[in-house]
Amino acid sequence: MDIVKLIEETRSYRRFQEKREIPAELLREMISNAGMAPCASNLQRLRFSIITKEKERMVLFSGIGWAGYLTDWLGPEPGKRPSAYIVIHAPAEEEFFTGIDVGIAASYIVLSASAYGVGSCMLLNYDKVSVGSVAPAEGYSTKLVIALGYPGETVLLEKDSKQIRYWRDEKGVHHVPKHSLESLILKG
Ligand SMILES: Cc1cc2nc3c(=O)[nH]c(=O)nc-3n(C[C@H](O)[C@H](O)[C@H](O)COP(=O)(O)O)c2cc1C
Repeated sequence: MDIVKLIEETRSYRRFQEKREIPAELLREMISNAGMAPCASNLQRLRFSIITKEKERMVLFSGIGWAGYLTDWLGPEPGKRPSAYIVIHAPAEEEFFTGIDVGIAASYIVLSASAYGVGSCMLLNYDKVSVGSVAPAEGYSTKLVIALGYPGETVLLEKDSKQIRYWRDEKGVHHVPKHSLESLILKG
């Protein structure tokens, strides 16, 4: 697939086809791809947990804050919730580059998901206790949760926008504004 198309299609999805399972080998492949990502000194310190069991998904879901800008929306209703999650763990003693490694690994996961037709949403607004109960990892702390599922909504990119707030229109389509190339480049 064309890299620009893949990046354009790798949007944050928050409504999914909950009943449609993501094959286990695809989830493992996403992590395998993240394992091939660049990381500081090639230390490969990150670890990953895959959550697919319904009961565990419910525990994780209960602590997630969805779409802060959509103030009158409480999150996906039953049937539209993620069918899987990947939790990213890093060693409890943080290094200055930990967050960078996590961001790169997460990008590889969401881009891989997108290439397999799976939607995703990176999540920092989660409940640590809930995550710890379904994805225990001694000596590690949770750095990011990624919700996954086959898309159950349309998400459109709005290019060359000065806005930062995403919005949902009357048809339920989610719009994501992104700044123009010219506004991003400081030099060159
Ligand atoms: C580090 C990080 C944390 C995020 N945390 C949340 C979150 O807790 N809840 C949520 O609904 N979306 C979360 N998002 C998704 C962003 O809101 C989303 O990336 C942004 O609105 C732009 O949309 P896009 O991913 O389609 O480009 C997070 C994204 C990143 C990169």
